[in-house]
Amino acid sequence: MAIQSQTKIVHPGGFTGGVVRVPGDKSISHRTALLAGISSGTSEIRGFLQAEDCLNTLKAMESFGARSWIDDEGVLSVQGTGGKMIEPAGPLDVGNSGTGMRLLAGLCAGSPIQVTLTGDESLQSRPMGRIREPLELMGAKVDLTPQGTAPMTIRGGKLQGIEYRLPTASAQVKSCCILAGLYAAGRTVVHEPVPTRDHTERMLRAVGAKIRVEGPFISVEGSPPKGPKFMARPYVVPGDFSSAAYWLAAAAATPGIELVAEGVGLNLRRTALLDVLRRMGADVEVERTSSPTDPEVYGNVAVRGGPLRGTEVGGTEIPNLIDELPLVAVLGMLAKGQTVIRDAAELRVKESDRIAVMAENLRALGGTVDEQPDGMVVTGPCRVHPERSVRSYGDHRIAMSMSILALFADEPVCIGGVACVDTSYPEFWDQLSNLGVNVE
Ligand code: S3P
Repeated sequence: MAIQSQTKIVHPGGFTGGVVRVPGDKSISHRTALLAGISSGTSEIRGFLQAEDCLNTLKAMESFGARSWIDDEGVLSVQGTGGKMIEPAGPLDVGNSGTGMRLLAGLCAGSPIQVTLTGDESLQSRPMGRIREPLELMGAKVDLTPQGTAPMTIRGGKLQGIEYRLPTASAQVKSCCILAGLYAAGRTVVHEPVPTRDHTERMLRAVGAKIRVEGPFISVEGSPPKGPKFMARPYVVPGDFSSAAYWLAAAAATPGIELVAEGVGLNLRRTALLDVLRRMGADVEVERTSSPTDPEVYGNVAVRGGPLRGTEVGGTEIPNLIDELPLVAVLGMLAKGQTVIRDAAELRVKESDRIAVMAENLRALGGTVDEQPDGMVVTGPCRVHPERSVRSYGDHRIAMSMSILALFADEPVCIGGVACVDTSYPEFWDQLSNLGVNVE
């Protein structure tokens, strides 16, 4: 029974396109839970993503003394700690979420408490040395396993601002440093060599933090020892572009189909997939509906499919579509010519090794894939022919990306290990069915 519920069979064809509204943005939801959780008073958050990852971050904030509840309309209220974080009674399990762990670590480092953060098998294999380095330079004590992984124990407090150049392009590490910097003496400056998603910066500016962004330098003035005094406020979380991406990609690869994703986040640090879809031959239209005073840009995206051609994705574009790269590989199977993904070695340390796992899964469906250390080359179009079933390896983005490829197969595709989809997009299977696809 357990094994069956872990498996979905996705039937090809049937995808009708239409209009979709996807659930709230995961990255922004994590950050609202954190900021509302340390503010004074009760913040109301509309569009909060009620998926495992973000709910775990919320639970962690409750262990520090915040309270939260969700009403019948899905509006989340968070009564913040007002600044003082209490020491949790035991280890905090943040499940599958690298964002949850790395951002919470930054926050914990600012307070004179001891906190142990742990997670599932996937999260316990991911590199945490990348946050230990800056946090220890600031004066926190961070213990990891000898492999540099979680469980992680942080003893925080008495931080000093630092200037830190990020060795890897990572919004999680950048945000960890910025959050710790809020509690540090003096100024913390983070230098990011390649721009990454800037939700933390936007949100902190909206709550009145002393944060400045000058080119690649982000600086924050700390308020030790208690941290800044943020007041509760309303938040609106736009739809998650990374969730909409599955439907946009399916439409792009289906000539004659139109799909409109309404109310999705359009932060330029997230939407490079749209440029890729255009280069591959799809027709993409974007309509901005947010107002210039909203911290985040959002609106509607329409994609009309056409015959696809291969493209190259690399360089500074990578962080702006990092979570969509498995989908780009899927499109590579359907496009004419070579689709090249390079400069994306970070994919190897996501929820799974997304380069190895995608190469294996695409080949299992008849793909021609040349795996590279920092990406892959997919030569298409390939007949999508399920010689074997495919596996998610516990990675939500792999499960969902392979479901989209299944729409273009000769026969139904069996996808194993799909429970992980609940970490980011619990409504995925219902929305897939609503878009005309037969899912067992
Ligand atoms: C995220 C940043 C990205 C992304 C992840 C969410 C965030 O990770 O892959 O899904 O919310 O900051 P990195 O910053 O580690 O690349």
